[in-house]
Amino acid sequence: MKIFFTGGSGFIALPIVRKLLEKGHHVKVLDLRKPALEHKNLEFVKKSVNEDIIQDIKGCDYVMHFAAILGVDNSDNHPLDTMRVNLEGSVNVFKSAIKAGARNMIYSSSSEVYGEPRELPIKEDSTKGPVSTYGVSKLASEIYAKAFNKEFGSDIRIVRFFNVYGPGQLDNWVVPIFLKRAANNEMITVFGQGNQTRCFTYVEDIADGVLVVMEKGMAGEAYNIGNTQPTTILELAQLAKEMTGSKSEIKVMGYGNETRLREREIEYRVPDITKMRALGWQPKVMVREGIKRILEARKN
Ligand SMILES: NC(=O)c1ccc[n+]([C@@H]2O[C@H](COP(=O)([O-])OP(=O)(O)OC[C@H]3O[C@@H](n4cnc5c(N)ncnc54)[C@H](O)[C@@H]3O)[C@@H](O)[C@H]2O)c1
Repeated sequence: MKIFFTGGSGFIALPIVRKLLEKGHHVKVLDLRKPALEHKNLEFVKKSVNEDIIQDIKGCDYVMHFAAILGVDNSDNHPLDTMRVNLEGSVNVFKSAIKAGARNMIYSSSSEVYGEPRELPIKEDSTKGPVSTYGVSKLASEIYAKAFNKEFGSDIRIVRFFNVYGPGQLDNWVVPIFLKRAANNEMITVFGQGNQTRCFTYVEDIADGVLVVMEKGMAGEAYNIGNTQPTTILELAQLAKEMTGSKSEIKVMGYGNETRLREREIEYRVPDITKMRALGWQPKVMVREGIKRILEARKN
């Protein structure tokens, strides 16, 4: 199969691209930067998802749409760019793919669409209430995807990732920030009381999950892809300190204008992954093992 992959050079996309190539597929990456991977069946198009891309998709059988502007703080600081790339870009990808004859797609969404959960664990049909520009842009794109499925008979499946981490992640995410500070024996600061709870999901588990949805998922369905092991931010800081043998002090900062507003914080986020389990997928890498792998990858 020939797969058109937007944002294919990114942190989460790259291991998926690698796995698709290993399975014998041909992959055409559309991104603003080149993928850090060479392969005879890998093509690269340097373009934005906001450009005219119909001709680029022609001849492809499947679309993975991963390109996005990321980060809650980053997108709140650049709300119009976020809407342009994440929402207009997504609508452009969906419509262009349908016009180019590639009706089967996966859209990479986020647990941010749920906001502060009204029920736990969070099911795919739980109430949505994003509290960030980023979350709104991801949810709005999902709604377009569903509308296009109805209107044009396309099959756009939605995968919602929960707090992804792993080797190669940029230094502005919580796991690499804590590991970097710990490695340098610098103070590790934790907002609130540090009891915000997340389920950190290793990037290889995410990659396997996306392939499972592609191969066995149901048309037009949404799937939570996440670990189910709850870890508080304070526990994560302690783990980073312990596993690097660090002398860092861990400082609990509370909330406030100088740190982070309580209203913007999601306190507890744990996914229900019954739908993914029914497809035969479950997370394999728990957070301690994941951090071990990151530290090993850094040594090498
Ligand atoms: N990292 C997470 O924890 C997480 C959680 C939930 C969902 N997601 C989603 O997963 C996807 C991948 O995220 P990631 O963490 O790998 O981020 P990333 O920043 O590593 O990858 C995004 C890629 O999109 C590209 N891109 C940005 N703007 C573009 C544009 N206008 N045109 C074409 N390409 C563009 C970037 O160059 C980059 O390679 C995103 O859709 C994101 O919303 C990520």
